[in-house]
Amino acid sequence: MSSPTTKPFAILVTGGAGYIGSHAVLALLDAGWPVVVLDTLATGFRWAVPDAAAFVQGDVADMEIVGATVARHKIGAILHFAGSLLVGESVGDPLKYYRNNTAASRSLIEAAVAAGVRHFVFSSTAATYGMPERVPVAEDAPTRPINPYGMSKLMTEHILADVAAAHPLNYAALRYFNVAGADPQGRSGQSVKGATHLIHIAVEAATGKRGHVGIYGDDYATPDGTGVRDYIHVSDLADAHVDALEWLIANPRESLTANVGYGRGYSVREVLDVADRVTNRVIERRLEPRRAGDPAILVADNTKILATLPWRPKRDDLAGIVADALAWERALQERGLSR
Ligand code: UFG
Repeated sequence: MSSPTTKPFAILVTGGAGYIGSHAVLALLDAGWPVVVLDTLATGFRWAVPDAAAFVQGDVADMEIVGATVARHKIGAILHFAGSLLVGESVGDPLKYYRNNTAASRSLIEAAVAAGVRHFVFSSTAATYGMPERVPVAEDAPTRPINPYGMSKLMTEHILADVAAAHPLNYAALRYFNVAGADPQGRSGQSVKGATHLIHIAVEAATGKRGHVGIYGDDYATPDGTGVRDYIHVSDLADAHVDALEWLIANPRESLTANVGYGRGYSVREVLDVADRVTNRVIERRLEPRRAGDPAILVADNTKILATLPWRPKRDDLAGIVADALAWERALQERGLSR
C-alpha cells in the first residue's frame, strides 16, 4: 500500500456519506488516496465519512461548489455516487430521477471538464438492461431500461461517452448488480431509512425489527419459482472502483463500461435459507404478489471486468455477505443510530 503523499492528486467522491460511496471512501483511503467527499446529507450521514477524508456539504449540481472544491483540493478524478436509487419511487416521480441522476450528473460533468478533471467513475446499474433476453447478461446486450431509474442512469452513460469523445476526460461506468453486506471491519454499512432490498430486509427480520419477509412471487421461470439475483459484497464493489480509477489513469485514452457482479445467482428462497443459517433463526416468509418490473433472473456476465481490471472478488460468499449485513444492523441498533 502506498502512502497518500505518493498520489498525484486527490479524489472527489460524491455521495461519499451514503451506503456504497462510504465504502468507496474507505477503499480509496486504504489504498492511500487523498479523498474529499461532496454530499448533501439528504440521505447520507456525516458520521459515515471517516476523519481522514475532507468533507464538503453541497450538491453535485452546484457547479460553483464543484469548481471551487476541485481547485482547492487539487482533485484529479471524480467517483460519482450521489443520486436517487429506488426503482419504485422512480416510476411515481420520474422527474426527481431525471433531475437527481441525469441533470445533476450533466452539471457535475460540465464542472469537471471546465476544471480540468481527467477521470470519472460513474455509479451505473444493471437496471440499464431492463429485462435481459439472455443471462448472464454482458455489456453489449441491448440497454432497454424498464423504469425511469435505469433510464436516468443510462442517459448519464451516454453523456459521458459523448463528453469523453470531445474532451480530455475518460470514464468508467460500472453497472452494479445486487449490492449487499457491510464493511467487514464494521466501519460502514447500509443505514438508510425504509429498507427495500432483500438482504437488508432479511437482517431486519432476523433482529426483530420487522415480523416477516414477503416473497414477491414464486411463479417465475426459475428453479424454485422465486427471483434470482447476483448479490455482490459492497466492499468488493468498492474495490472495483479503486481498480477502475487506477486503470483510467494508466489508460488515459480509453474508457470502460463494465458489469460488477460475481456471475452467479441466488433465488429469494436461497437467500432467506442462508439468512436463517447465519442468524440461527427461522425468518418468517409470506408469499406476496409479484412486484411490478422485477425480472425473473438478473446475473452478471463479469468476463469483461475480470479481463480488464486486476479486480478479483474477495468476498464471494453469500453467508459472509449476510453475516456482515447482520453485524452492521446490530451495531446500528446498539449505537442508537438505527432509523
Ligand atoms: N424481494 C422479495 N421480497 C422483498 C424484497 C425483494 O421477494 O422484500 C425479491 C425481489 O422480488 C427480487 C429480489 O428479491 O427478486 C431482489 O430484490 P431487491 O429489491 O433486493 O433488488 P432488485 O433486484 O430489485 O434491485 C437491484 C438494485 C437496483 C437495480 C436493480 C436492477 O438494487 O438498484 O437491481 O434490476 F436497479
